[in-house]
Amino acid sequence: VPIEKISIRNAAGIAKTPEDVLQLCNSAVTDIVVGSYTWLERRGNSGQTTGFNEREMAYANALNMPNMGKDALIQRLGCMVQLAHRHGKRLVVSVAGDEPVDYGEMALACYTAGADFVELNFGCPNKVDAGGVHKPIPSYEPELARTILGLARTRLNYASLKVGVKISPFDENNLRMLSDLADACVESGIVEEFTACNTIGNQELLLEDGSYALNYRVLGEGPVMHTGGLSGKPLKAQALPIVNLLKLWHPHMRVIALGGIFSSEDALEYLEVRADGFGCGAAYMVYGKKIFSEITQGLAEVL
Ligand SMILES: Cc1cc2nc3c(=O)[nH]c(=O)nc-3n(C[C@H](O)[C@H](O)[C@H](O)COP(=O)(O)O)c2cc1C
Repeated sequence: VPIEKISIRNAAGIAKTPEDVLQLCNSAVTDIVVGSYTWLERRGNSGQTTGFNEREMAYANALNMPNMGKDALIQRLGCMVQLAHRHGKRLVVSVAGDEPVDYGEMALACYTAGADFVELNFGCPNKVDAGGVHKPIPSYEPELARTILGLARTRLNYASLKVGVKISPFDENNLRMLSDLADACVESGIVEEFTACNTIGNQELLLEDGSYALNYRVLGEGPVMHTGGLSGKPLKAQALPIVNLLKLWHPHMRVIALGGIFSSEDALEYLEVRADGFGCGAAYMVYGKKIFSEITQGLAEVL
C-alpha cells in the first residue's frame, strides 16, 4: 500500500472540542476523529479514570464517554470541519446512540453539518446508566446491531450516505458472533468501513507498583471501582486476528486497525494483514501527537 493511501487517525474518545481538533490539525494524522458523542450530554466517571502500565504497554480507561451531547456537537461541528479541511485533513465523527434510533439520526445530522465520515460506535464497555446499569453493547448483540442499522438505513439511504462501524474485540471462542455482526453490517448496505477494535470490557489493570490503574466512582456515586476498558498491547492479540479475518471475509470493506499501536512496527503488522489504516488511542494519550509523525516516518522508510 502506498503510504499516501493509508488512513492515520487518533482513536475515538480523545478529541471532542475545536481545541482538540486544532491540536490534531498540526499532527501527522490524515483523519481527525471527534467523539464519541451521545444523544444526551454525559457526565464522566470521577476519580482516577485512566492509567498506563508502561512495562506491559497496557492502558485502562473508565471515562464513560463524557461529552456535551448531540446538540452541542452539531453547533460546533461546522467549525471543526473547517479547521480540519484548512489543514488538509478529513473529519470523522464517532457517534454512540443512547437508543437504537439515535445512531442514524446523529449520523445524518453530522453529515448535514459537513462531517466527511461518521463511525457508529457499537461497543463502549464503560457506558453506564445513571442507575449504574451497563447499557447493552451492540457488537455483542447482533440483533440489536441489525435494528440500529435498519433504522440508520431509513435515514441515510436516500442520499446514499455510508458509515463505519466500530466493533468490540472478540476472542477465538466468539468468532461466530463476529462473523454474524460483520454480515449484519454488510447486508445493511450502509456500512463501508470497520474499525477494529474498541477496548476489552470490565478489566482490572495493575500499575508497575501493584496498585490499581483505575480508582473511580460511576458518575461520581457508589463504591470505588477498578474495572474499565483495556487497550494497548493486550488488545493487539485480539485485534490483529480480527482485522485479518474481516479482510478475508469482506475484502471490499475498508478496515481501520486499532489496538496497541505504539510504533511503525506495530502499524506494519496490521498493514501486512491488509488494514486500510490505523489509529492510536493509548499511544496518543501517553506520548502525545508526536507519536503520529514517528510512526509515519518509520513507515515511510519501509513502504
Ligand atoms: C481514554 C480513552 C477514551 C476512549 N473513548 C472512546 C470513545 O469515546 N469511543 C470509542 O469508540 N472508543 C473509545 N476508546 C477506545 C479507542 O478508540 C480504541 O479503540 C482503543 O483505545 C484501542 O486502541 P489503543 O490500543 O491504541 O488504545 C477510548 C480509548 C481511550 C484510551
